[in-house]
Amino acid sequence: MFKVLSSKLRFFTMSAEQKFEVLFILGGPGAGKGTLCRYITEKYGYVHLSAGDLLREERMKPNSKYGELIEKFIKNGKIVPVAITCSLLDNNMQASDSPHKRFLIDGFPRNQDNVDGWNETMSEKCIVKGVLFCECSKEMCTQRCLKRGAAGSGRSDDNEEVLVKRHETYITNTLPLIEYFEKQGLIYKVNSMQSPEKVFEDTKEILSKIGW
Ligand code: C5P
Ligand code: MG
Repeated sequence: MFKVLSSKLRFFTMSAEQKFEVLFILGGPGAGKGTLCRYITEKYGYVHLSAGDLLREERMKPNSKYGELIEKFIKNGKIVPVAITCSLLDNNMQASDSPHKRFLIDGFPRNQDNVDGWNETMSEKCIVKGVLFCECSKEMCTQRCLKRGAAGSGRSDDNEEVLVKRHETYITNTLPLIEYFEKQGLIYKVNSMQSPEKVFEDTKEILSKIGW
């Protein structure tokens, strides 16, 4: 009896130990999510997974069956169905040989479909430690994306026409999630209108609050 119980206990402890730890990074298009994640990764070594980057990478694969669909969504500033995005995140998390098993998931979840898909397929494997919300005005976000586009980001969505749609999607679909996560006590806000260095300084305090 004792043997059975102790082996069960060991199984549960092991599964808890092996869970991936996740910090979601949210904010409008151009809020500085990617830049901040690069700072965090450099200092702490956590793995940065940008949902947008993974989708763009998948789109570029010549034999991807989702390439065209992804491009259509990105060009319309719309959110790609979660099954695609979650499987990209999942594959990259599984493939990572990071000793920390701590992941910065940038630009996800973006809408309720993203949240539902995550809860269905990922919540068993991951612990969401928090949601870092990069607060930035629409004007500053737009300026940053246009500047990035003019500097040759090569992105099909860093232009005024698509930015209007990306902002609409952000306001309608992503902002309500902040309230959803706030109710769960998971939201940490950072003023991302400041210099990248200052945003990073403020973020360090948040990381220490979540035990990172
Ligand atoms: O985060 P980023 O600005 O790189 O996202 C670019 C685009 O990628 C979004 O406007 C959207 O079309 C797509 N995307 C998505 N689902 C996510 C993240 C990004 O469909 N969770
Ligand atoms: Mg980004």
